Amino acid sequence: MAVDKASPMESSWTIFKEYYIDEEVGFALPLPLEELPHPYDAWVSIARNLPELIKNNQLRVEVEKLAVLSIDGLRGHRAQRLAHLVLGYITMAYVWGQGDGDIRKVLPSNIAVPYCKLSEKLGLPPILVYADCVLANWKKKDPSGPMTYENMDILFSFPGGDCGKGFFLVSLLVEIAAASAIKVIPNIFNAVQREDSDTLHKALLDISSSLHKALEAFSHIHEYVDPNLFFNVLRIYLSGWKGNPLLSEGLLYEGVWDTPKKFAGGSAAQSSIFQCFDVLLGIQHTVGGDSAAQFLQEMRTYMPPAHQSFLISLKSRPSVRDFVLSKGNAVLQETYNECVQAMVSLRNYHLQVVVKYIVIPASRQSKAERSSEEASEKESKGTGGTNIMDFLKTVRSKTVNCLLKED
Ligand code: HEM
Repeated sequence: MAVDKASPMESSWTIFKEYYIDEEVGFALPLPLEELPHPYDAWVSIARNLPELIKNNQLRVEVEKLAVLSIDGLRGHRAQRLAHLVLGYITMAYVWGQGDGDIRKVLPSNIAVPYCKLSEKLGLPPILVYADCVLANWKKKDPSGPMTYENMDILFSFPGGDCGKGFFLVSLLVEIAAASAIKVIPNIFNAVQREDSDTLHKALLDISSSLHKALEAFSHIHEYVDPNLFFNVLRIYLSGWKGNPLLSEGLLYEGVWDTPKKFAGGSAAQSSIFQCFDVLLGIQHTVGGDSAAQFLQEMRTYMPPAHQSFLISLKSRPSVRDFVLSKGNAVLQETYNECVQAMVSLRNYHLQVVVKYIVIPASRQSKAERSSEEASEKESKGTGGTNIMDFLKTVRSKTVNCLLKED
């Protein structure tokens, strides 16, 4: 296939900037802002004190007192992303309250109107998304220090102690580990274009090595995230209002729409990382058009538009998989398979994590206190609203199917 000379993949980081991809942190927002100017500081102040305000039953009172603000004074992408993050935290807290079932089905106009306007401007939905709570919710403690868990913190917290910090920062560190693999993507397409198997081989080795580093970063989840706090507290605040029986009609954004709207909750399924390497390696979830494929496709609409465009631009490139197949080169095929296998390993590991953090706590709860019907409903749905195990196993088996078999 002919390759457009001016195509984004021809050069690397200067062009990647158009896609809001950073050399060091990948899809994460580099150097997120921590403060907003007056009068938006009122939002930041509520978000910063969220666990305390929720505990004292003051959160909803404070939100209802907020003035309706125009978003025109929010200048620049980083300020707008911080505002989206902050309004997302406030919205989740307003809806789910103390997490005890006393929920709100109407988001008051003083928060709903600016939130929806800002969401439209950023091309994001008006609910807390992964691009908020993971990609834009971090800082280094020592700015000159390394990007390590010990030297990092989140900007805003939900109830549940350090569980949210663990979940968000480990996800972020997986993103950052994989960033070094994104960097190699232009080399891959250039090598395919020039039919340069040696360069492609080296680039694929770099990708599989970065994906192994991502898996290593993922393994730290056990050190920092407590399964009970995750299941019983954090998960509630990340839940959305799509496919959720507690808000079956959706949420009414007062002053914006006349009818309630449904949006899926925050989930790492909204990360561009896995989808990016799926597309690059030709792992096709869309084959058969099953519900897992539809969900992954839908999750793209919860990603920043620049990242959605990046995924589309990858898809429009010549197929790496077809090139590897066409060469009949055993070493190249093996290296390609190592990349696919690294994706399988990530998904295997992820499945084990989901069993530990969702399936087991749900079944314990069912034995201890709940009717089995209610618990099995809780167990089967993720914060994104999927039937978890079916979904994740389908996605994994599509990944396994992509491994090239020896003749
Ligand atoms: C306590 C840790 C975690 C739990 C309990 C968990 C749970 C889930 C669940 C339930 C889903 C299904 C979609 C939904 O309904 O939300 C999902 C999907 C997904 N998660 Fe996680 N997750 C965890 C950590 C992570 C991390 C750290 C990453 C990587 C950054 C990640 C990446 C993904 C991806 C990419 C999907 C989409 C399915 C796929 O492409 O394989 N998850 N997760």
